Amino acid sequence: MKRVLIKSLSDFIGQEVEVSGWVANFRSSGKIGFWLIRDGSGFCQAILDSKVLTEEGWEESQKVTMESSVKILATVSKHPKKEEFELQVKDFSFYQIAKDYPIAKKDHGPDFLLDNRHLWLRSSRQWAIQRIRNTLILATYEFFNKNNFIKIDSPILTPSACEGTTELFEIDYFGEQKAYLSQSGQLYLEAAIFSHGRVFDFGPVFRAEKSKTRRHLTEFWMMDAEMAFTDLEENINIQENLIRYMVNQVLEKNKQELTMLERDTKPLENITKPFYKITHKEAVRKLQELGSDIKEIDDMGADDETILTKQYDNPIFVTHYPKEVKAFYMKRDPEDNSRVLCSDLLAPEGYGEIIGGSQREDNFDELLKRIKEYNLPQTAFEWYLDLRKYGSVMHSGFGFGLERITAWVCGIQHVRETIPFPRTINRLNP
Ligand code: 4AD
Ligand code: MG
Repeated sequence: MKRVLIKSLSDFIGQEVEVSGWVANFRSSGKIGFWLIRDGSGFCQAILDSKVLTEEGWEESQKVTMESSVKILATVSKHPKKEEFELQVKDFSFYQIAKDYPIAKKDHGPDFLLDNRHLWLRSSRQWAIQRIRNTLILATYEFFNKNNFIKIDSPILTPSACEGTTELFEIDYFGEQKAYLSQSGQLYLEAAIFSHGRVFDFGPVFRAEKSKTRRHLTEFWMMDAEMAFTDLEENINIQENLIRYMVNQVLEKNKQELTMLERDTKPLENITKPFYKITHKEAVRKLQELGSDIKEIDDMGADDETILTKQYDNPIFVTHYPKEVKAFYMKRDPEDNSRVLCSDLLAPEGYGEIIGGSQREDNFDELLKRIKEYNLPQTAFEWYLDLRKYGSVMHSGFGFGLERITAWVCGIQHVRETIPFPRTINRLNP
């Protein structure tokens, strides 16, 4: 008999099928057993009736444990009240009877679960999160493909910093020089726009940040996009369209997962409306009214972002930050030289920054001045300066953190649950 997937059981009502999976939970009421089966594609209930099974079969079924792997032969039926499909078991066999699965139904602390991440990934909640993450990844590729971008893979081993020198993971490169793990592929994408116009990358990046917040990982997945002939405003429009597309895809494809996570989807459904746009100056004023002690030229801390974004029911672009708090490559605002042509996109409901972007400095002399002001090693940036020598054009780009977006869309507290094997300041295992 051909194995069928749980997600396609609705095509087999009244028919006999074979399902292979794991027992995610089980209970029994006298002479009937109920097993919750997970096969990767979904979850369903298998009903074992002592009157239907052989005597030996029923005896065997009593050996079931959490996470035992099973092959089931059953007739598919529809749940009398819900849109769910059940397996009326005729016969089954164990691939393996699992022994003492450590994750019990009772509540475990986060450290225990993270130590057992290799097993915790099987839980229904973690299953749902990874499915949504997958939709967000696919939606990103689809969006860029539809909008004339091509994917350019930027290197992970780099000779210098992109974002800030204090957050670099350093490695010895054959005893001859130092290499650093990439913090963002942006600078390399800037080179690629001269060949392709619109490009993006999507891969792991690394930040040796000593932050222990719910938003920080030391290894996370970043998507950088870069576009020639694009100013701050168009850069923002592209980001808005991308995020709208991504969230809509999840709303469309992951209804079951969102329900499993008990995600209130109302805030996500607002995504069809225009996003909010405020300047850093306006944001500071608003924050001060809300009781923050943020100053005119301060960066926005995580707490400020939380306070601010709780006031909004849709993502907010905060633009024109003070130059002091942003990276060397951002173009100065011609109308106010103390500010840069940048935007951070903050997710609502207290989530905060999910995208950072800006128009880039495209003038050779200005960029050189910046590199010196920021005390960056000029030799390491010669190639980057070259881009301002040979056909320099106005250009912009942005980068998102996949885990931050996933956390917001799933409505979960901490980014560590959104990546299969999280790396944080105090976790490298499993
Ligand atoms: O704002 P960031 O530092 O921007 C850049 O790296 C630019 N070079 C991107 C570009 O313009 N191409 O990082 C981009 C995003 C942030 O908005 C946030 O979502 C995420 O990456 N991020 C982190 N996510 C998890 N853990 C961390 N430690 C993160 N640091 C940044
Ligand atoms: Mg940022």
